[in-house]
Amino acid sequence: MAIDYREWRDGDDLALLEIWGDPDTAQARQFRGALAPSSNGTNGTPWRRCIVAEDVVDGVGIPVAAGVVYEASLHPERLWAYVEVARDHRRTGIGATLLTMLRREAADAPSGVSRLRAKVEPGTAGAAFAEAFGLKPIQRSRLVVVEPGALKLPVFPDKDYGGRPVSGENAGSDVVMDLATGSVELTDVVGRYYTSVHAWDSPGVLSVGQVQKLFLDELTGAHGAIVLRAQPESAFGAGVAPGKKGRIRAFAVSYAAPADPDAAPHMDNQGTEPSGREAPTDVFVGHEPSLPADDAAEAVRDILALIAYQHPVMLELDDSMAALRAAVEPLLESGKARLAAAETLVVSD
Ligand SMILES: CC(C)(COP(=O)(O)OP(=O)(O)OC[C@H]1O[C@@H](n2cnc3c(N)ncnc32)[C@H](O)[C@@H]1OP(=O)(O)O)[C@@H](O)C(=O)NCCC(=O)NCCS
Repeated sequence: MAIDYREWRDGDDLALLEIWGDPDTAQARQFRGALAPSSNGTNGTPWRRCIVAEDVVDGVGIPVAAGVVYEASLHPERLWAYVEVARDHRRTGIGATLLTMLRREAADAPSGVSRLRAKVEPGTAGAAFAEAFGLKPIQRSRLVVVEPGALKLPVFPDKDYGGRPVSGENAGSDVVMDLATGSVELTDVVGRYYTSVHAWDSPGVLSVGQVQKLFLDELTGAHGAIVLRAQPESAFGAGVAPGKKGRIRAFAVSYAAPADPDAAPHMDNQGTEPSGREAPTDVFVGHEPSLPADDAAEAVRDILALIAYQHPVMLELDDSMAALRAAVEPLLESGKARLAAAETLVVSD
């Protein structure tokens, strides 16, 4: 077998798709999209090096494998890397050669960043390959569905902070509120929460505009948000109606189902799962990062109870999200929540 290595060219994606067939994992599905012509990082495209391996038969090269390494403006401290080899060419060292070549390219990345990072699924060839090359897990991420009614609804006081009685249905109305996804207050807490739970791979400095673009604007599918606030306090002490709302303790942003079932393989575009169960709504749940751990856990549990009261919700649970883990892991153990997909490991050198 003679293998040649060359730069990625337009058209390689189609040739490789034919040879590769369906992706092994959700991560492979996602990262195939990163295979694209190399770029020096000018004209707004990120720096990227993409290499193809061809099996040369009778002087004709047929693409069988590819690897890519590229910079990302979000989480700039590492470069993303991905390698894929046709099944009938695996375990012959092609993956290893591609990774070695990518590492050499990474050493010349203009940002000076050369550490690699990849996503793999535990127990797969990709995970074994990463381990063999010293890429160690730096985070585990799970996609979790919380079943309706899994958590008890929080009980809100029947008096507001000014001491005035509130009728049953209005209890909590000064702490649970809808907020527009364009809200500056929401954007601020979402950005700071995201940064705080990514200390293991810093997202860099996030501007208000970036937070909006990543999590809250129309293109993300965000269509609503609720927040749980601290009880408002009056500057004049208890008994005097407070003039200001309490600060946000926790937030939940919900997203519309993507029309493309590839992007959400757990459901069809009619909003049901293949099993016939009601498809969960994607949500992003977080808290004010400066809250003490106990308070954060309580706030996250309460907001999750509210949003998952009647309908299932799906959220990404990283091991770094301590408050969310405290709420969700007992539900996973008791069967009131389930994994929607295999776990993902982010591995890095
Ligand atoms: C992961 C992948 C790229 C490996 O490609 P490959 O050409 O088979 O890898 P190599 O032959 O160079 O293997 C190098 C070493 O990795 C390890 N390895 C690779 N595949 C393995 C497997 N299925 N089981 C256990 N170890 C494995 C071994 O240590 C191997 O050395 P050895 O063959 O001498 O034992 C290939 O399996 C693939 O395309 N998987 C799907 C895509 C993917 O998951 N990519 C990983 C993201 S970076």
